[in-house]
Order: sequence, then structure tokens, then C-alpha cells
Amino acid sequence: MNYRRYILWMMLAGSLCTEVFAASLDNLQKTEEGSKKTIEVTKEAATKLAEETKDVASELKKSAVEALQEAHEKVSQIVVAESTSPTGEALYSKCIACHGVDGTKHALGKSAVIAGQSIDMLVGKLKAYKAGRRNVTGLGAFMQKVATPLSESEILALAAYIDTFKQQKEKKDD
Ligand code: HEC
Repeated sequence: MNYRRYILWMMLAGSLCTEVFAASLDNLQKTEEGSKKTIEVTKEAATKLAEETKDVASELKKSAVEALQEAHEKVSQIVVAESTSPTGEALYSKCIACHGVDGTKHALGKSAVIAGQSIDMLVGKLKAYKAGRRNVTGLGAFMQKVATPLSESEILALAAYIDTFKQQKEKKDD
């Protein structure tokens, strides 16, 4: 190999090296850009996901609240339906003489007014009379006689019917 040829080869190799170096530098920059972009996209996706999760959570909360309200409404409807059912009303016909058509009379001039008492309270008291465990004014025996033949569902129907007196009273107050 003569001297000239050698120089030529060296130059060729040198330029080749520069090109390769430039290309790999370019590649390196691209890779860095790519990584940055990946990080950005990942961040964006994570933020979006977090927001979406929040949305879903509040949506769930909303529908839970709605379901609760709906259930509450249904229960009220059932109570009203039961209270206005003929059973409660028919059974109450036996109570009118002492407690009044709207439950506002003091029975035999002594009892507490039953209109406005909660269903729970009414049920508890009627069950207590039935069991002979209640006598507030000394006239409890009258109530025991009335309550003894009542079944549990009849007591419930009566209490629900008496509860409508309270609702009527509230309506009047409006
Ligand atoms: C003969 C009259 C009489 C009749 C009929 C009667 N009650 Fe009474 N009731 C009373 C008296 C008297 C008391 C008070 C008893 C006591 O001292 O605990 C009373 C008490 C009650 C109480 C408890 C009030 C309170 O807060 O202390 C309820 C509830 C009640 N009656 C519901 C009824 C229902 C429902 C009927 C019909 C199924 C009925 N009563 C029929 C006389 C009557």
C-alpha cells in the first residue's frame, strides 16, 4: 500500500466515523425527546385517570344518595298506603268512641292524646297494653281489653293509620 493510498483510506475512515458519531448523537437526542414525551404522556394519563376516578366516586356517591332518597320515599309511600288501607281505618272504628275520629281526644278524660305520636311509640304502647304491662292513668285495663285481640300486623296497621292524623295536622299547619 503506498503512502497516498493510505492517506485516502484514513480520510475515508475518518469521515465515516464522523457520520456515525453524528448519527448516534442524533439518535441519543431523539431518545431523550422520546423519554420526555413518554413521561409527559404518562403524567397526563395519570392526571386524567385521577380526575376520572374522582368523577366516578362522586357519581357513585350521588347515585347512593339518590337510591337512599328513593328508598326513603318508597317506605313513606308504603307507610301511607298501609295507613290508608281499610284495615287500619276499619280497626280504628273501635277506638273512635274514646280517642276521637282524629285521635285528639283524651280517652275517658284521662289518656294522653294519641295523634302525633310516632308509629314506633304507638306500636310499643299497644303491645304493652296487650301484654298487660302498661297502665298510666289507672284505666289501663280498658286498653288491655281492646289490645288483647289485636295481632301484630293489626297493631302496625292501626299505628300507621293513627300516624295519618299527625300528617293531616301537619298539612293543616302548613
Ligand atoms: C273504652 C275507651 C277506650 C277505647 C275503646 C280505646 N282506648 Fe286507647 N286508651 C284508653 C285509656 C283510658 C287510655 C289510658 C290508659 C292508661 O292509663 O295507660 C288509653 C291509652 C291509649 C294509648 C296510649 C296513650 C299514651 O300515650 O299513653 C294508645 C296508643 C291507645 N290508647 C290506642 C288505642 C287504640 C288504637 C284503640 C282502638 C283499637 C283504643 N286505644 C281504644 C281508652 C280507650
